[in-house]
Amino acid sequence: MVEKYIVILEGDGIGPEIMTEGKKVLSAISSKYGHKFNLDDKPFGAKAYFDFGHPFPEVTQKACDDAEAILKGPIGLSLSEMKRIPQEFSPEGAGLLPLRKRLDTYANYRPVVLPKNCSHFSPLRPERLGDGIDIMMIRELVGGNYFGRKVEGKDTNMEYAIDEGRYDRPQVERIAKVAFEEARKRKCKLTSVNKPNVMAEGRFWNAIVDEVAKQYADVSLQHYIVDNMAYQLVVNPSQFNGVVLFENMQGDILTDQAGGVLGSLGLMPSACLNLETKKGYYEPAHGSAPDIAGKNIANPYSMIGSVALMFDKSFGLEQESKDIWNSLTKLFGNGYMTGELAKGTNTPKENILSTSEFGNKVCDYILEK
Ligand code: IPM
Ligand code: MN
Repeated sequence: MVEKYIVILEGDGIGPEIMTEGKKVLSAISSKYGHKFNLDDKPFGAKAYFDFGHPFPEVTQKACDDAEAILKGPIGLSLSEMKRIPQEFSPEGAGLLPLRKRLDTYANYRPVVLPKNCSHFSPLRPERLGDGIDIMMIRELVGGNYFGRKVEGKDTNMEYAIDEGRYDRPQVERIAKVAFEEARKRKCKLTSVNKPNVMAEGRFWNAIVDEVAKQYADVSLQHYIVDNMAYQLVVNPSQFNGVVLFENMQGDILTDQAGGVLGSLGLMPSACLNLETKKGYYEPAHGSAPDIAGKNIANPYSMIGSVALMFDKSFGLEQESKDIWNSLTKLFGNGYMTGELAKGTNTPKENILSTSEFGNKVCDYILEK
């Protein structure tokens, strides 16, 4: 039996409804194993700005510092509502990026998984998918042009704008080690992605990755140029089965594309970690989908998968984590899915689950003897 303090940031849009399913799964695991999870809801995101004047209020900052893990929903509202939030209080710039910086969660794990029997979820023809997709995408999360010096157009009479993209040696070394360790653990190859033909950052990145590679003679390493990677990911995604390493912004874009290859961003859970301090938060890699919020149709897989990642990576509870993954696999194996995955297939109506039915089924499977 373990006891853990988990801070919950449900976020905006579909955040609350998929978080409800995440909490159901936490409670199923807690009743199965006798664990105690002390959940502490805190405001974060656009709603937090409207309610408290800040997307990352001080109470939330303090709770995040003390948390043993954080489970977070997507943030942001519709375009018209976002227009009512001044730039200096944007949920991304004043909420999410400061959360990442504060906890220094430099390692973003985004598993991209599509078993062969789920090929019909993908917009790609099944023969393009090989024996299934199983890629662990690792994105550097606190460096590069996301966090460099910024000059806004409005401060230069709209003459120019700057986003400085800088990487320091220790930043590249630590994320490279994370990627090599993951590849070693999985006994698979590592693909490192960047843009060395144009970017100084890319040449620097590759040189440091090559240096770190010397400590990992057992891992085979290949470098890919990012535009080619984007192309190859669609034409033949399973060639990247293994671990793929990205810098921050390229990883942002290519992991969304990977979600598209799977057939839905709802299939993209993620973990954001600092391996040294063990601080971390877990979140779906997608946005808050305000257009479908409150309809009970959002896919909660990404949130439930994030809970599974939390058990494994923050709590070392491997069996609990496996229980969740197995239940998700079983749900799909039994032909169930959410509506967006069924598009263009002849899935019978009764197999299309709402958000809450999906969560209930996962819990039933977890609790099954
Ligand atoms: C993500 C998101 C964020 C990012 C946004 C919301 C700032 O797209 O986590 O991928 O760009 O990192
Ligand atoms: Mn993104």
